[in-house]
Amino acid sequence: MQNFDLTIHNGRIVTDVDEFNGDIGIRAGKIAAIAPSLPQGTRHIDATGRLVMPGGIDSHCHIEQLSSMGVMCADDWYSASVSAAFGGNTTIVPFAAQHRGDSLKDIAERYAASAAAKSVIDYSYHLIITDPTPQTLDHELPALIRAGITSFKVFMTYDKMKLDDKQLLDVFAVAAREGALPMVHAENNDVIAWIARHLLAAGYTAPKYHAVAHDPNAEDEATQRAIRLASVLEVPVMIVHVSTQGGAQAVHAARAVGAPVFGETCPHYLLLTADDLDLPSTEGAKFCCSPPPRDPASQEALWQSLQSGGLTLLSSDHAPYRYDETGKIPYGDKTTFKQMANGMPGLETRMPLLFSEGVGKGRIDLQQFVALTSANHARMYGMYPRKGALAEGSDADIAIWDPHKTVRIAWQDLHDAVGYTPYEGREVRGWPTTVISRGEVIVDGGKLDAERGRGSFIARGQPGPLAEPREPSPRAAFLRKIFPDTQAGA
Ligand code: URP
Ligand code: ZN
Ligand code: ZN
Repeated sequence: MQNFDLTIHNGRIVTDVDEFNGDIGIRAGKIAAIAPSLPQGTRHIDATGRLVMPGGIDSHCHIEQLSSMGVMCADDWYSASVSAAFGGNTTIVPFAAQHRGDSLKDIAERYAASAAAKSVIDYSYHLIITDPTPQTLDHELPALIRAGITSFKVFMTYDKMKLDDKQLLDVFAVAAREGALPMVHAENNDVIAWIARHLLAAGYTAPKYHAVAHDPNAEDEATQRAIRLASVLEVPVMIVHVSTQGGAQAVHAARAVGAPVFGETCPHYLLLTADDLDLPSTEGAKFCCSPPPRDPASQEALWQSLQSGGLTLLSSDHAPYRYDETGKIPYGDKTTFKQMANGMPGLETRMPLLFSEGVGKGRIDLQQFVALTSANHARMYGMYPRKGALAEGSDADIAIWDPHKTVRIAWQDLHDAVGYTPYEGREVRGWPTTVISRGEVIVDGGKLDAERGRGSFIARGQPGPLAEPREPSPRAAFLRKIFPDTQAGA
């Protein structure tokens, strides 16, 4: 037998389905053996007392992306991927965002080139579709899906990004025909715009009114509508960043009748509330994201959804904007809640927060932790078992965790370019101490050993929900069949 390049000994190996004590042998970037005891490789790590888990996959993060307001993220592919790696991630999947008038193909090409030059960990990307023209839907999107970009996000809110219901059906039809997974930002734009207009007219401009404008009913209604629209064509759909009990219930109800509907939530909906936006002056802008953090009852409902499997993914929705004129407060203390860049950082803290608050407090077990942070992302987005698994033949993407390491979160210790964290001062127990990407130790003992651009693009296969093709009903099959003969947007 050939020697191993790297071996990991005496760790507690944890996957989304089991856990056991053993050794892992790595050769040529892949897991070559898992056994109770293996001979030492050229390099070897003693993982006694530590957990050996698949590297995290963060399938919802914004990197080097222009927002709907035209604001560039604070993180580029380098800073974001470094921060992700320190947080135990080995794959990131952000968004190549089309803005109206853009060629999707050009946007994707530019995004891919930047990623290839800078990312220190493996990556793929989703598309964001805001301009579903015939050129986009009939040519550019199908070609990108065939090239392995098998998911895309669409918005029901933000004036400059939203699709109307007819456009949503158009993109869902392409997803059904080409085999892609649509991800939906579900908030009712008119409800938000109506409330915001009246708030501003009445002089309520502080960040906390962002949470008032983004009423939970706006999310609940749009979530139900997105699910219904997906049901017209019986296409799988992922509802991203679910923040409300009603949104989670809509996902559960659809799943209970066998619809291929999936949901994602984020740490800030589990750990923050709208009260966090209520700080002096514009300080609350640091907690301003869409949908906004809600209330303790919503937090509890989301924890239960993670426990029950009603929600499938825990992503960061890392949307990095600095608390200065480049991001959160373009007009200083005169900035209204409508002018603040939406989003908050979270790539590096996503998994430690879930580990500490979820596993540490007995809300979820280790298998659920791996499923929610890694394996389910790989399955949903067509990367399993190359990613998200500890199995012979899988990429050797591994995070070794010290379950007892206590860390007080401070923005100076994080590696993104944002300059603050919404979790400043919060203590967590459990942290990834060694991170291995395709067999290379890239983070160890708080140090990075990874060259800019070493990450590889992962051409993704069929999303998991499409891998077991289900026959559409005759009604949906007929509707799908007539779509290719119609002009998108007609
Ligand atoms: O507020 C957020 N989440 N900003 C990022 C864009 C999005 O909708 O995910
Ligand atoms: Zn969104
Ligand atoms: Zn997002």
